Amino acid sequence: MTKLAEGFLWGASTAPHQIEGNNLNSDFWRLEGRMPGSSYSGDACDSYHRYREDMQLSADAGLTAYRFGIEWARIQPRPDLWSNAELAHYRRMIETALELGITPVVTLQHFTLPAWFADEGGMTGPTALERWRAYIERVSTILDGVEWLITINEPNMLAIMTGLAEMVTSGKLDEWVSPTVEGERAGSLVSSLPAPDPAIGSALVVLHREAVDILHARTAAKVGWSIANQALTATPGNEQQFADVSYVWEDLYLLGSRGDDFVGVQSYTSQPVDAKGIVPHPPHPDNTLTGAAYRPDALGIALRHAWEITEGVPLLVTENGIPTASDERRIEYITGALGVLLDAVDEGLDVRGYLHWSLLDNYEWGHWEPTFGLIAVDRDTFERTPKPSLGWLGEVARTHGASLTTGVRP
Ligand code: BGC
Repeated sequence: MTKLAEGFLWGASTAPHQIEGNNLNSDFWRLEGRMPGSSYSGDACDSYHRYREDMQLSADAGLTAYRFGIEWARIQPRPDLWSNAELAHYRRMIETALELGITPVVTLQHFTLPAWFADEGGMTGPTALERWRAYIERVSTILDGVEWLITINEPNMLAIMTGLAEMVTSGKLDEWVSPTVEGERAGSLVSSLPAPDPAIGSALVVLHREAVDILHARTAAKVGWSIANQALTATPGNEQQFADVSYVWEDLYLLGSRGDDFVGVQSYTSQPVDAKGIVPHPPHPDNTLTGAAYRPDALGIALRHAWEITEGVPLLVTENGIPTASDERRIEYITGALGVLLDAVDEGLDVRGYLHWSLLDNYEWGHWEPTFGLIAVDRDTFERTPKPSLGWLGEVARTHGASLTTGVRP
């Protein structure tokens, strides 16, 4: 029976734009009105004010870690304006987590940018390095006591979003689409979204490396970034195609994390690669609310691939989850995912924790229907209602994984 180490992190993940509400100075806030058929984030889950309650619910359930992000657009709402009050806000969040005995895992950039910086060209624009450096230096002043830092969330998805922005600006694409929902609903990410441009990806690697250096010099934290792991598999005879597609979608970013303290693994589903490329998810009654195939085993594929390409960088599962209206289904999915995680640990992979996506039913980049949360949120009153999966995952955490193999299942 596998039991995970005492210090293994058990928790849930969130992102600032998806839960805080009123992220007025960000590029995505501005974009929401321009994506046909999409909803606004609005007040979101009002976690900007209710973060203590969110962390308390996690701690009460037995979880030991909480991943949240710092919103650059709040810290630097204008190019020449830094907000000390917003820095103090995020400092309070870190201190609240520490006070509750929760290990904070802090993301410094999760898809959104200050709108003014996006107008300058964003992460690939002429001012990117200078602006990014200034932000990272500023934010490093409030990170005392933080052990885990993620520089950029899903640089491969960010490359797609950056590519989309360029296409809309140049008139090659008429309309914005949700980066995480429309693509999958259409059958596959690749069918309606452009592949991540390796030139953009390489620019993001440079920014990541820069941030790693600054943060190592100024903090005691472990630093890495978190990648959208595709869990791709080769179909017979298409090994070269698999290698090429994997490089563009994922490996460029995994190679960019070689030598890091850890790499964040983010896994939801898996897709085969054939001679034509990534095979779209066929329609199936088991598909999730975003149209992706139900593949709890994807996490095992993702962990092994990340371990191989990074040449043994410690792995932290920073996202894994399922958009579903059925909490029983969620528990079944997590049970499967943790099963393959335990197998990977048995094989000798160095896995440091499991952070479920997501703590709350939150704003899924243009939509509210795909619910990923361990906790439901009333969007009018913001009342939180833990689902059975929260207590269930807390029990797994308390027993260091043993409850999974001793039958404490729903
Ligand atoms: C992102 C999250 C998103 C989740 C589910 C990841 O792409 O980091 O922001 O909500 O997957 O789609």
